[in-house]
Parts: sequence; C-alpha cells; structure tokens
Amino acid sequence: MKILVTGGAGFIGSHLVDKLVKLGHNVIIFDNLTKQVHPSGIPDYLNLKATFIRGDVRNKNKLKDVVKKVDAIYHFSAAVGVGQSQYEISKYVDVNIKGTANLLDILVNEKHRVKKVIVASSMSIYGEGMYKCKKCGKVKPEIRDYKNEKITSWEPLCPFCRGELKPIPTDEDTPLKSNSIYAITKKEQEEMSLLIGKTYGIPVVSLRFFNVYGPRQSLSNPYTGVCAIFLSRIKNNNPPVIFEDGLQTRDFIWVGDIVNACVLALQKEKANYQIFNVGSGKPVSIRKIAEVLIKLLNKDLKPEITYKFRKGDVRHCYADISKIKRKLGFKIETKLEDGLKKLINWSKKEKAEDKFKYAEKQLKEKGLVK
Ligand code: UD1
Repeated sequence: MKILVTGGAGFIGSHLVDKLVKLGHNVIIFDNLTKQVHPSGIPDYLNLKATFIRGDVRNKNKLKDVVKKVDAIYHFSAAVGVGQSQYEISKYVDVNIKGTANLLDILVNEKHRVKKVIVASSMSIYGEGMYKCKKCGKVKPEIRDYKNEKITSWEPLCPFCRGELKPIPTDEDTPLKSNSIYAITKKEQEEMSLLIGKTYGIPVVSLRFFNVYGPRQSLSNPYTGVCAIFLSRIKNNNPPVIFEDGLQTRDFIWVGDIVNACVLALQKEKANYQIFNVGSGKPVSIRKIAEVLIKLLNKDLKPEITYKFRKGDVRHCYADISKIKRKLGFKIETKLEDGLKKLINWSKKEKAEDKFKYAEKQLKEKGLVK
C-alpha cells in the first residue's frame, strides 16, 4: 500500500513510519519540521526508505499533490502543547483544525484513491476522567477551577453531593468536556473527520491516545509531555518540577504499543468509523514517574513539588481499553517499568537542553499557574 503519514517526522509519526516500512508499505512522510520540535532540521532517525516531503498541512495545494498519490492516510501532524495552546490560540486552530479541514476538502473535492484515514485524537478531549461516588454512582466532575478559594484538596468532588470520588476507567462514551484550546481542536478534528468520512463513505478511524512516552519525544521542547520534560531536567541535574502534590495520575503508554494500535486500525475493517481509546488502562502518579526516572538515571535529586495548579490540568484520567481489545485484538506489550528503562537507554546519547524554566515563566506571566 502507498501510505501518507502527516507529521511523520514527529515522535509518534516516525515510529509508525518505521513499522509501516517494515511491513512492506510504501510510505510518504509529509512534515513541516517545526522548529520547536526539530531545532536541528531533519532528524537523523528519519527512515531513509520512506519518501520525505517537507510541507505544512496549512498549505492545501502541496498537501493535495501527496493525497492524490496514496491509498491510506495517517493524519498525525498537529501542534501538541496543552498549556501553550492557551496563549497561541490562532496557531493551534490553524494547524489542527484548518489543517484537517484542508485534508477533508481535498478528500471530498479531488480525485483520489484513499481507502482509509486514521486520525490522532487525544484523551485530553474528555477533560476530567470518569469517577465513582459512593452515593451518586458514576459521575463526571467539572474541571477544577480554584479561582477564589484557598486550595484545601486537589481531588475533584462529586458534582451532585460534593462527596468524595474515586477515579474509574474512562470509556469512549464518556461525555467530552474539553478544557484547553488544544483539546478543543482535537475534538473538532475528530468530529469533522468522522462526519466527512461517514458522509462520503471514506472509512475514518479516530484513535484517542493517552499519555504516550518513548524515544524521540523531543528532550529540548519544554511544551511536550511530562516524561520527556522530567528526563531533560534530570539529565541536566535539575529536579523535576511537579505541579499540585504529584498524586495526580495519567495513563502512560509506550510508543510501540501506540504503533501497534495504529496498524490494527488500518488492517481491520471493524475499526472503520469507530473511536478507540489507546492507553495502557493503568493509572500512575506523576510523582512516581519523577521518582522512577531519577532512580533509573542514578541521580541524587528530589522532585520539587510546587503545590501549584497548572490551569486546565485534569486530576485523573485513565483509559478503559476494552473496546480496542475486543474489536481489534489490541494487547499491551510493553509494561511501564520496561518502557522507562528503554527510554533511559535511548536518552543517554541524546542532547537535552532544559528549557523548562522558560516555559514555566511564560505560564506564570499568562496567569496559567496558580
Ligand atoms: C498530554 C500531551 C497531549 C496529549 C495527551 C494525551 C503534551 C504537553 N501534552 O497531555 O498533547 O494529547 O497527553 O496523549 O504533550 N506535569 C508536571 N510537571 C511538568 C509537566 C507536567 O507536574 O513539568 C504534570 C501536569 O501538571 C499534569 C501531568 O504532569 O498533571 C501531565 O501533564 P502533560 O504531560 O502536560 O500531559 P497532559 O496534559 O496529560
């Protein structure tokens, strides 16, 4: 098959390209090599067996030329910083929504032979995950907002009885309460793609990725995910900086497992027009991630716990992965402990410029950390 991967030079996209090439596909990478992620231009890991086209999804004409050549598309190019999206609004809307709109316009109005489109969605579109209240049952709390109050507890309360809550797995039917521009753009992207796919009979699959970690996540991009930021801090002998009390949890999934899910989404007809969570199904605290990384890197550091709130952050969200297991036969292959070890091994030869303080200053200036 001839397959286009937009964002194919990025963290997840490049691993997917490697796998598709290995499976014997003919792959075209379409990527604008954005400076924030690729400060030194074309990354050395780029698969030489794939065709590389430098291009931006905001440039419809350039995108049109590649779309016309392929049988399937993974649409993975996106601006991905949750915090950054709150003050670079038009950029995030342009890249994530307009870029997707360009792709859909091409699919609807041009001659092509595309038989499947897979879009990268995100767990962030849920807002808070699902919880259980002893009295009220399954509930979805509001996103926390500590506007005028003194923070006495980091845990969200039951929206009905204000009682205590326990996080439970979040499934695909959970109502969406996006709470960042990034999340809104991902939600729009997913909805637009599925709608146009169904309307015109082009099979679309939306994969809601949870917190992906692994090699090639930029160690010098302070707007990236927490694992890479912590790793960069620790490698530079700086303590990882933790928001809240560090007991907030996320669902971390190894990039190789994400790639397996992407391949299943292409291969299986049962995936068509469906939405799938792609996570490990297990919650892990942010403090634990910091401690394990410090230990694995053998450093004498202690995480710096700020007890500060990064506006918009959810407290807990982890995936219910029963749908993808049942329908596509998905299985997690790499456990967190093994994945983190592999991540550390990779990072040893990598340059890591710690720009965390700069990004934190920006958040503070915009009033996004309380
Ligand atoms: C992340 C990704 C998002 C992706 C989503 C699901 C980023 C910036 N966010 O969102 O693109 O769609 O997963 O895959 O890549 N934290 C700290 N210290 C730090 C950084 C973060 O304590 O230096 C905490 C945050 O407050 C939060 C948690 O770690 O509680 C996770 O943050 P982050 O990695 O930014 O991820 P998400 O917002 O979950």
